[in-house]
Amino acid sequence: MFLHCVACDERYKRDPMLYACPAAGCESPLEVLYDKEYAKVGKLTGEGVWRYQPLLPVKKSVTLGEGGTGLHLCERLGRELGIPRLFVKNEGENPTGSFKDRGMTVGIALAQAVGARAVACASTGNTSASMAAYAARAGMTALVLLPAGKVAMGKLSQAIAHGARIAQVEGNFDDAMRLVVELSAHERGVYLLNSLNPYRLEGQKTLAFEVCEALGDAPDALVLPMGNAGNISAIWKGFNEWKRLGRSRRLPRMIGVQAEKAAPIVRTFREQADACRVENPETLATAIRIGAPVNWRKAIAALVDSKGDAGTVTDREILEAQRHLAKTEGIFVEPASATPIAFLRKRRLKGAHTVVCVTTGHGLKDPDALSGAPVEMRRIKPSLAALRKLLDA
Ligand code: F0G
Repeated sequence: MFLHCVACDERYKRDPMLYACPAAGCESPLEVLYDKEYAKVGKLTGEGVWRYQPLLPVKKSVTLGEGGTGLHLCERLGRELGIPRLFVKNEGENPTGSFKDRGMTVGIALAQAVGARAVACASTGNTSASMAAYAARAGMTALVLLPAGKVAMGKLSQAIAHGARIAQVEGNFDDAMRLVVELSAHERGVYLLNSLNPYRLEGQKTLAFEVCEALGDAPDALVLPMGNAGNISAIWKGFNEWKRLGRSRRLPRMIGVQAEKAAPIVRTFREQADACRVENPETLATAIRIGAPVNWRKAIAALVDSKGDAGTVTDREILEAQRHLAKTEGIFVEPASATPIAFLRKRRLKGAHTVVCVTTGHGLKDPDALSGAPVEMRRIKPSLAALRKLLDA
C-alpha cells in the first residue's frame, strides 16, 4: 500500500499522518493505492462497509453498522424521467443519517492506530455529526469547526448530543477548512478526518462495491451531489477497483451536481479551467455550500475519465425535487441529496437504461428546509364529520 499524489504523480510510503502532498508548492490531496497482493481478494462475508475488509487499509475497530444501505428501484419516478431502471441508493439509512459513516468507521480506526488524542474536522454538518458519533464510541475527543449559522439543526443536534467540542467559525466552510488543516499541521496529536484524509475516503468507495454486487455490474450512470468532492472521487475509485478485480465488466458515467451559486467544480469542468474556486458560495442546500473544494482535481478526473457530466440546479429546483421524491417514492432526503433528482428532471440522460442516484443524507437532518412548503394541516374539532371533510377534500 502506498500514497499517490493526484496532482504531481509523486509516490509516498504509507503514512496515516500524511494527508496532502508534501512536495514544495503542491499540497494536493493524496490517494491510497495498493500493489499486487490486492488482487487476491478472497470470498467476501458479512454486510456493510466491513464486508470489504480485504479492500480497506485498516482492520475494523469502531463500528455502528454503517453501509449496506437500500438500493431502491423507483418505477414511478423512472417512468416520469424516461429511465427504465432508476435506483436511489439511500445513504440516509446509515447510522448517523449520511454517507459520511462509511468513511468515518475507517478514519476513526486510523486515528486509534496512530494514538491520536483527538479527531477534528471542518464541516457543513454531516461530517461533524458522523465524526462526533464515532469519536464518542471510540472514547476520543471530537473537535468540530462549523460555519457559524449555516449548519442545519438536525446535524448540529447530533454533534451536541455526542459531546463534540463545537467551534462556530465566523466565516464559511472554506475558512473553517483552512483553519482545521492548519491545526492538524501544528498539533500532531490531532487527527484530521475531513475528506482530505485519503484513508477516510477508502471507506466511502464501498458504495460502488455494493451497487455492483446488487446490480450484477456497474450501472450506466451514477448521479450524485458534489461539495468538497470526496465522495465522487471515492466512489469512482471503487468502481475502478471492482472492475480491476474482474468483478464487474464496465464502468459507469459519473454525473456530479452542484447548486447554481456554489458550483466551482461544474465551472472548472466546463471551462477546463486550471483553478477551482467560487467566492461567497450560496445555497439553501447548506451541506454543499462550498466554494473551494479540496478534492477538485480528483473530481474532475472522475468526470473526465468516466466520460461523465456535471451540471447545476437552482435552490427552487432542489426543493421541488426533494418534495417530489418524498411524495412519489417515500424517500425523504435533505436538500443537497435532492440535487441528482433535480438534475434528471431537467436534463435527459441519453442512452442511460440503468441509473443510480445517490441520496447522501436523511431529510430529518434539515427540517427547516420544508418551512416554505405548502402544507395541508387543518385544525379541526374532534369530530368524525370534520375528519371526513378533510379526507374527501
Ligand atoms: N451531500 C451531503 C448531504 C453532504 O453532507 C455532503 C458533504 C455532500 C453531499 C457532498 O459530498 O463533500 O464528498 O462532495 N458534506 C460535507 C460535510 C462537506 O462537512 O458534512 P462531498
